[in-house]
Amino acid sequence: MKRKLLLFMLSMTACVDMMAIEEVAAPMNVYARDVLSLNGKWNYIIDQQNIGYYDYRMNPTPWGFFLDAKANHPSDLVEYNFDKSETLDVPGDWNTQDEKLFWYEGTVWYRKKFQWTPQTGRRALLYFAASNYMTRVWVNGKKAGEHEGGFTPFCFDVSDAVKKGENTVVVMVNNVRRKENIPTQIFDWWNYGGITRDVMMVSVPQIYIDDYFVQLRKGDRKTVDVNVRLNKSCAGKKVVLSIPELKVNKQMTTDENGVSSVSLRIKPVLWSPKNPKLYRVNLTMEDDTVKDEIGFRTIETRGKQILLNGKPIFLKGVSCHEETAYTSRRCNSAEDADTLISWAKDLGCNFMRLAHYPHNEHAIREAERQGILLWEELPCYWTIDWTNKKTFACAKRQLTDMIARDKNRANVIIWSIANETPHSDARDNFLSRLAQYARTQDSTRLISMAMEVTGASNYVNRLHDNMSKYVDVVSFNQYIGWYRDVNDAPKMKWEIPYNKPVIISEFGGGAVAGFHGDKEKRWTEEFQENLYVQNLAMLDKIEGLAGTTPWVLKDFRSPRRMEPVVQKGFNRKGLFSDQGKRKKAFYVMKKWYEKKDLQYKK
Ligand code: GCU
Repeated sequence: MKRKLLLFMLSMTACVDMMAIEEVAAPMNVYARDVLSLNGKWNYIIDQQNIGYYDYRMNPTPWGFFLDAKANHPSDLVEYNFDKSETLDVPGDWNTQDEKLFWYEGTVWYRKKFQWTPQTGRRALLYFAASNYMTRVWVNGKKAGEHEGGFTPFCFDVSDAVKKGENTVVVMVNNVRRKENIPTQIFDWWNYGGITRDVMMVSVPQIYIDDYFVQLRKGDRKTVDVNVRLNKSCAGKKVVLSIPELKVNKQMTTDENGVSSVSLRIKPVLWSPKNPKLYRVNLTMEDDTVKDEIGFRTIETRGKQILLNGKPIFLKGVSCHEETAYTSRRCNSAEDADTLISWAKDLGCNFMRLAHYPHNEHAIREAERQGILLWEELPCYWTIDWTNKKTFACAKRQLTDMIARDKNRANVIIWSIANETPHSDARDNFLSRLAQYARTQDSTRLISMAMEVTGASNYVNRLHDNMSKYVDVVSFNQYIGWYRDVNDAPKMKWEIPYNKPVIISEFGGGAVAGFHGDKEKRWTEEFQENLYVQNLAMLDKIEGLAGTTPWVLKDFRSPRRMEPVVQKGFNRKGLFSDQGKRKKAFYVMKKWYEKKDLQYKK
């Protein structure tokens, strides 16, 4: 009997060791490639003690859930069964799909079966748009790889693991919060877990266009810099760039690193919120063609001004989490984004701060189509483990992937590397290296971070931050009226000793939609309305104010907001309720943006 069991176990493990799978860069513009979506119903198993991965000695077991094993003989011992397990939708967080997972932080296993036909001369990639937080992936029982970080894409070349016919992908996702993670243990949003964004198989030629950058040079509205990289270091490959509408048809040749660069003079209609003009751009190399829609604009600063296409602009913004309107779950589609964008547009916005982590690609592209400028942010939020090398590597990886994914989006103008981080040498060391690294990845956009006001005596608010020399825009959060008395606002003076544009990246206060009363009464719409009136009058006095992103577009879920009468698990600082009800402060903000329009028209 034992011999049969052993033979069964060995038969399961033997076949998986022969093949090689590797993590590869997530190909640029994956949605324009030859893909097979794996979205839909996935069977899942909750595994609080990671028994699907570790044995009872906490050693990784070769007989884990990744084998998707079946009992073939009546006496076989298999203590899990994906076929008989419930399903979750992918993409989607697990918290809002299954009541018993609403608060769950731990491991969930996912399994999906799919049909595949390997094609001669082509590679098979398995692409995840994101999965929160720690993800391990197996294909047909073979480990494809793992990824840390919940908000950026990752990809594996599984050509040597997939086979003709039915294939199985098993994914282990763990969203436990840890000190060394990015973000760290505490944050004011719901820790949505799971395979939160699209999953797809991607078919590409053996050698394909892996990455490209097609953007106007900083401050030059007529020179486009083009950089193309292949997945392999192949010299002499011909890549043709075409932009039909601009009569561009340029052949480029790769160097020994599989890279080619060229600069061209073009006269594009510039992308702007009023005219979000996009051009069809084609890149072809042998049997690989990638089509994209790209806009051309310049973004720069001049003293305390932000210049879009050489003209001063005021960033009429709002901060926003990646959480759906009405249903309050993780967003994962253009439709989800469209609702939030329409609310921001209602407010009169031309700009959105996507807090505090990279949102999904559908949202970025939808905002680009609708003329909304974007601030994207790395979740270096609050008390990061600054001296931990692994933590820095994780932050750097997320920054690399955020920039790599969205560097061709005309509407993305600011890369933010952090939010409300306590001052220390270790912090400065960590963040200054990230800021400098970001510039090596993209020299065309602005770098910023959400700082905090330092020292406020005698009604003088000072912003002294060593990081201000590493950023293009000094941005800070301030909560006069909520975490400080609203009556201080009229007396407030600001000391911001930097010749750089200023963005107020957060201000605001809570209110329950429909709850009315005296403006002194907290949580009433009148309290929030008055707070906005006082704050906006105060902000009007800040010299060099170039933008605002009030906190926050809509009420959003947070485990830090459990007051049972008004909060009920929601941060109530929205200008909209989670059900789309405009609060009185909404109209104050809208009116102020109309006034800004008039000021900037002159
Ligand atoms: C902070 C933080 C937000 C948070 C907000 C609040 O400034 O950046 O993530 O939600 O304050 O207190 O509501």
